[in-house]
Amino acid sequence: MPPTTFPALVIHAADGHITRRLETRNLDDLPPGDLLVRVDYSSLNYKDALSANGNRGVTRHYPHTPGIDAVGTVAESRDPAWQPGDAVIVSGYDLGMNTPGGYGRYIRVPAGWAVPLPRTLDPFQAMLLGTAGFTAALALEKLHAAGLTPAAGEVLVTGASGGVGTLAIALLAKLGYHVVAATGKPELAPLFRDLGAAAIIARDDLTRDAHKALLSQRWAAALDTVGGPILAGVIKSTRANGLVAACGNAASPELALTVYPFILRGVSLLGIDAANCSLETRRALWQKLAGPWRIELPDTLVTVTDLAGLPDHIERTLQGRQAGRVVVTLPDTP
Ligand SMILES: NC(=O)c1ccc[n+]([C@@H]2O[C@H](COP(=O)([O-])OP(=O)(O)OC[C@H]3O[C@@H](n4cnc5c(N)ncnc54)[C@H](OP(=O)(O)O)[C@@H]3O)[C@@H](O)[C@H]2O)c1
Repeated sequence: MPPTTFPALVIHAADGHITRRLETRNLDDLPPGDLLVRVDYSSLNYKDALSANGNRGVTRHYPHTPGIDAVGTVAESRDPAWQPGDAVIVSGYDLGMNTPGGYGRYIRVPAGWAVPLPRTLDPFQAMLLGTAGFTAALALEKLHAAGLTPAAGEVLVTGASGGVGTLAIALLAKLGYHVVAATGKPELAPLFRDLGAAAIIARDDLTRDAHKALLSQRWAAALDTVGGPILAGVIKSTRANGLVAACGNAASPELALTVYPFILRGVSLLGIDAANCSLETRRALWQKLAGPWRIELPDTLVTVTDLAGLPDHIERTLQGRQAGRVVVTLPDTP
């Protein structure tokens, strides 16, 4: 039997003032749903930091428990496909946005949000990847579907030190791509090389000559996690018939461009939405990440925190100072 109460990080946002408190919640506080899941690990993604900072574009109502990622064990099931004791990954959809998320020891969710934890992935590794690794895999799947192969040439990853960035570099390098990492943290160059990057450039290089409609052609493909002027610069410097997968807005949601990269060079802009991708795709990509696409991060890019330490890491993420992935451990008691 699950306990009636559990610990959670709760965000309060009133009158523009944000507080992040470790509190005891009641199972009755959770919404109705098919599966009650006891969460073992969650992770910290950029979207979690926005939710934990009162961003109403992510979370409309507070108090709220963020956490778009969770891995754990089914505690109660109203769906015949799932039994108590089953190991599950729940990530994306509305988890942690307007549904209490993985920064609580228990979540209650629709059965259609859960995928089985692949047998060859342990729960910690699953959250080391989390939405970030899943997004890198989804972007790569989409680039492959559009015809990308390692022979095409250099593939750029922006926001290289972030969760998506580091895992995208590792995944692309594992699959034989010539990866170039664009970063605001040049001091991490040795780490990017360890991950498999063949070259590192400063993120400012991508925003030079911003007034020009087209720039010298360099990238066969790109995975952009930051948006704004950097994404515009990436698209303008993508080679003829190249591919740009856009997944993030860590710098800005704006995109100021002419249509020339598209109509004079045939560049394709591919949108990546990990939160709402189908359950079928989700299952298939988790199996790939547990098998042929399995990737690791060096210890220096892995931070483990409990709920009490999480607010500090949220601040670092909001300030763009975090590198790699933050895995969150969930306790039984506050
Ligand atoms: N579409 C989807 O389905 C999906 C899924 C997951 C994530 N995302 C989005 O992808 C982005 C990255 O997510 P994440 O979890 O990897 O975030 P993260 O770990 O916080 O990494 C973001 C990285 O972006 C760079 N950055 C931060 N602030 C910047 C700024 N003002 N200007 C330029 N670069 C900046 C930094 O890398 P450097 O210092 O190395 O440049 C930072 O490490 C976020 O916007 C997130 O919302 C989207």
